[in-house]
Amino acid sequence: MFRLAKAFVVLATAMLVACSVSVNYDRGDQPDPSIPDNPVQVAGYYGVGNAASPEEIAGWDIDIRPDGLGLPVGSASAEDGEMLYEDQCAVCHGSFGEGVDRYPVLAGGEGTLTESRPEKTVGSYWPYASTLWDYIHRAMPFEAPQSLSDQEVYAITAYVLYLNDLVDYEFVLTRDNLASIEMPNRDGFFVDDRPDTSNEVCMINCKDPASIRITSEPELVVNVSPVVRSPGAGVYDQACSVCHAKGVGTAPIPGDNADWSERIGKGRDELLSSALLGIGIMPAKGGHAYLSDDEVAAAVDFMIELERSFFE
Ligand code: HEC
Ligand code: HEC
Repeated sequence: MFRLAKAFVVLATAMLVACSVSVNYDRGDQPDPSIPDNPVQVAGYYGVGNAASPEEIAGWDIDIRPDGLGLPVGSASAEDGEMLYEDQCAVCHGSFGEGVDRYPVLAGGEGTLTESRPEKTVGSYWPYASTLWDYIHRAMPFEAPQSLSDQEVYAITAYVLYLNDLVDYEFVLTRDNLASIEMPNRDGFFVDDRPDTSNEVCMINCKDPASIRITSEPELVVNVSPVVRSPGAGVYDQACSVCHAKGVGTAPIPGDNADWSERIGKGRDELLSSALLGIGIMPAKGGHAYLSDDEVAAAVDFMIELERSFFE
């Protein structure tokens, strides 16, 4: 069924392309003699498209079943995969599968599935090793999917299994033994056969919808205090924060008392005048000459306000 579905996709694509060819016939004219017997005409029921070639089908038919069906011939050890993994995967997934930044963690996390923050990795979560082979082959490395040879996929799959303590470093992964690898969470999935609703479907003599009364009304609760930002916040974000949020140079960080307290003693007028005219290495209006004086004033007020909120 799966194979058939894929063949249809190829066929459908071919049909879309072929439509432009068939326009000549739709006009009700005689077939254009400059177009030889339309070769796609014979292919199928609608007279368009080509039968998917074995190569085209093979391009789609890359799924690997849990029992290993679909795996190509090949074998490689975790050891073989180490350098490949280091070269092609570690930049995102980490040398130990720990995940760099927010890239997925591939190893560890065993026993965390019942915790409030489960760490779902190949080792802790995935039920079948076949998925690992399939996924790496299909989708990784992220920036060059399907660039790995089958042999390399065997090697890297073995290595990721090794990172999860599921096989030894010398372990040789083959087409024949991949399905026999027992993943720790293999029994953690089950078919959820609960019905979508517990109601019986009514097909005959059903209740008149007009007679159905809704017995409870949703309550409209308006109890959200909106976050009010000062008018100067936007100006500050766009024109001032680039220096002031991080304290570039000597730029005081609003809210940071040590930086700001001395200055705030100068009073608003003085601060505003500095902001308008520039001070030290800060250019007038922070270099944003297009700002109106009022906008700069609003930003200064916002900065002063940030200081206050610091003490609240
Ligand atoms: C440029 C960064 C990058 C590189 C290099 C990379 N990956 Fe990934 N990988 C990702 C991202 C992003 C995802 C998540 C993709 C998604 O969820 O659609 C991912 C997902 C995965 C997953 C599934 C994780 C999960 O739990 O869902 C596996 C397994 C995996 N990568 C293995 C590899 C292997 C093996 C290599 C080396 C051949 C590799 N990756 C190289 C970025 C990368
Ligand atoms: C290019 C970086 C930069 C930008 C952009 C910038 N500032 Fe400054 N700002 C500084 C530096 C540096 C100082 C400290 C100068 C000194 O005292 O020597 C400063 C000081 C200040 C002071 C304190 C003045 C005083 O008298 O002590 C205020 C108020 C101020 N900036 C407001 C603003 C406002 C408002 C904006 C946006 C419209 C802004 N700054 C944009 C770098 C910047």
